[in-house]
Amino acid sequence: MTVTPQVEQRIRQLQQQLQHASYAYYVLDNPVMEDSVYDRLYRELQDLETQYPELIMPDSPTQRVGERPATQFQSVQHQVPLYSLENAFNGDELQAWDQRWRRLAPPGAIATYVCELKIDGSAIALTYENGVLVRGATRGDGVAGEEITQNIKTIRSIPLKLQGDNPPPRVEVRGEAFLPLDVFDQINQEREQAGEARFANPRNAAAGTLRQLDSRVVAQRRLDFFAYTVHFPGLAEEEQPLDERSQWAALEWLHQVGFRVNPERERCASLAEVQAYCDRWFTARQELAYMTDGVVIKLNDFGLQEQLGFTQKFPRWAIALKYPAEEAPTQIDRIVFQVGRTGAITPVAEFQPVHLAGTIVSRATLHNGDRIAELDLHLGDTIIVRKAGEIIPEVVRVMTDLRPEAALPVQMPTHCPECGQPVIKPSDEAVTRCINASCPAILRGALIHWASRDALDINGVGEKLVQQLVDRQVVQCVADLYDLSVDDFQQLERMGQKSAEKLVKAIADSKAKPWSRVLYGLGIRHVGSVNAQTIAENFPSVEELSSAESGAIAAIYGIGPEIAQAVAQWFQIPANQDLIRRLQAAGLSLAQTVVSTAPPAQAALFAGKTFVLTGTLPTLSRDEAKALIQQAGGKVTGSVSAKTDYLVVGEDAGSKLTKAIALGVAQLSEADLLALLNAASSQP
Ligand code: IVH
Repeated sequence: MTVTPQVEQRIRQLQQQLQHASYAYYVLDNPVMEDSVYDRLYRELQDLETQYPELIMPDSPTQRVGERPATQFQSVQHQVPLYSLENAFNGDELQAWDQRWRRLAPPGAIATYVCELKIDGSAIALTYENGVLVRGATRGDGVAGEEITQNIKTIRSIPLKLQGDNPPPRVEVRGEAFLPLDVFDQINQEREQAGEARFANPRNAAAGTLRQLDSRVVAQRRLDFFAYTVHFPGLAEEEQPLDERSQWAALEWLHQVGFRVNPERERCASLAEVQAYCDRWFTARQELAYMTDGVVIKLNDFGLQEQLGFTQKFPRWAIALKYPAEEAPTQIDRIVFQVGRTGAITPVAEFQPVHLAGTIVSRATLHNGDRIAELDLHLGDTIIVRKAGEIIPEVVRVMTDLRPEAALPVQMPTHCPECGQPVIKPSDEAVTRCINASCPAILRGALIHWASRDALDINGVGEKLVQQLVDRQVVQCVADLYDLSVDDFQQLERMGQKSAEKLVKAIADSKAKPWSRVLYGLGIRHVGSVNAQTIAENFPSVEELSSAESGAIAAIYGIGPEIAQAVAQWFQIPANQDLIRRLQAAGLSLAQTVVSTAPPAQAALFAGKTFVLTGTLPTLSRDEAKALIQQAGGKVTGSVSAKTDYLVVGEDAGSKLTKAIALGVAQLSEADLLALLNAASSQP
């Protein structure tokens, strides 16, 4: 298709608007655009770019979604090597470092230190040419790494284009890619629900995610990034854009051009101040949303840094004060085997309680049989357990020297500890599984999952209740929940009439939940809540989905073949087909219905207000603006009168504006309108 100036302008406009909104959201933590508006504009841009691929810019927001799988990564030489840091483990070692560099510096050097949190993620190197991100790479061995540009582009807090005019011809930015703790927990929950092994810690999860061959998976994992170093290869000192040749100024510059820079950084005038910073963050880091494993201390002045230079491995002008490893020895009491919703059997070590990272720990997951073998775990062993921050404790290793004589190796059970049926272990999986569909543990898990917040969100259906329902065989599948009466519940322990009535109502209310939630609630392997939503959007009814071939499901953008196959297989099993029929009979919605997605705060916002639109709005079409106003409860009419409350004014507004001014009708720009909607939707 031929490109018209209008199309070109619209594409540029959309790219800019979306970039701005994304920067405000991911870097400034201060959203300026409603999610639904963003999505709509994004889709418009995507459509236009599909029609006019020659207008896709490398920094267009659509370039962040990931591409089809790479077969392997290319190796790249770093322009400036990525050094590692020397570690200090206590105040004395920190002081020794301070004396060491002072001996090499001019006598009486006065130093300012910059203290930064040491983020526990994975170091990456970014290259910008004329302000545009052209390459992203892993640290590798510091000299050469792997080219992972596609993956890096999915990180929303990394600018695809530097802000400001006259960018330096070439900029090398370094920093830490990491997974915030809540995202880490969520990924692990999803993995557990999907019957996959959990990631041991956010660092492994971040490093593993960066090296994913399928960048669409990376896009779903919500990596984040803090920048901490910048180089300007080939640019003379006086041409560099920094206000001052210092680490502090470099961090300021990085922030100015659009990066997230850790806000907890501080300048310190003495080593005593540095020590105080480290002491403070030793405890305060527990409150952070991401994991840190120490403090990095750098000499601020670049001149001094250059005088001191590097050893073989480290800069002399920086050091990492590492927090003591939170590990402790303890003795195993016993191993219990838990059966999850998917039938996966997870071994859990129970040991003598130990104090770790501010909590008392007495249990740790052993993940699976392979991990037990790897640890060479025996009953009665002394083990080292580790807990870091919010993270679940893990068994690091066994102290074999302390093993009691004749200790027996720990083995995975051959029969399900819950139902006694034989278990299976496919040779290509680490997981041992019970495959008895009526195993009470699997049923309990299915019920809890069904009632969970992201699924059917049924208040009151928790562990204790489910245990009773299953033990007493009142419920054999999730559909049975919908047949239970107040009387049935009153038969249970400690269940008064009021509570029983509440439960029946909560269960009945759950019938109104949308199809995507039901699909997630079914607990199909690999189908987490995000995937369920994507699938439900593409297959808007259970009839369409259950008759789909796995190929058709895999054709959905973002849904891989493994997920597709799990879905298709699930619907082929007669017991599952029965379940679907029973859920339908119970009145659940197994098809997409069109409902207003506006949160209640918005529905009330424009209630009783009348709007008129005039002129061309900068980003929204008439219909989009109208839909937004209506979603928030407002009315949109065609002409201005005394009854009009607001006139939304765009470019080239005509007689409606004149009339509104004459009648004293309030005017809103598109930005005002969006700001109003935003403010309302961000209220609790
Ligand atoms: S500066 C020459 N600053 O720690 C400068 N590193 O143990 C080298 N890290 O590979 C790095 N936060 O992955 C620096 N604020 C920070 C950091 C940081 C985390 C990591 C980085 C590096 C490792 C060295």
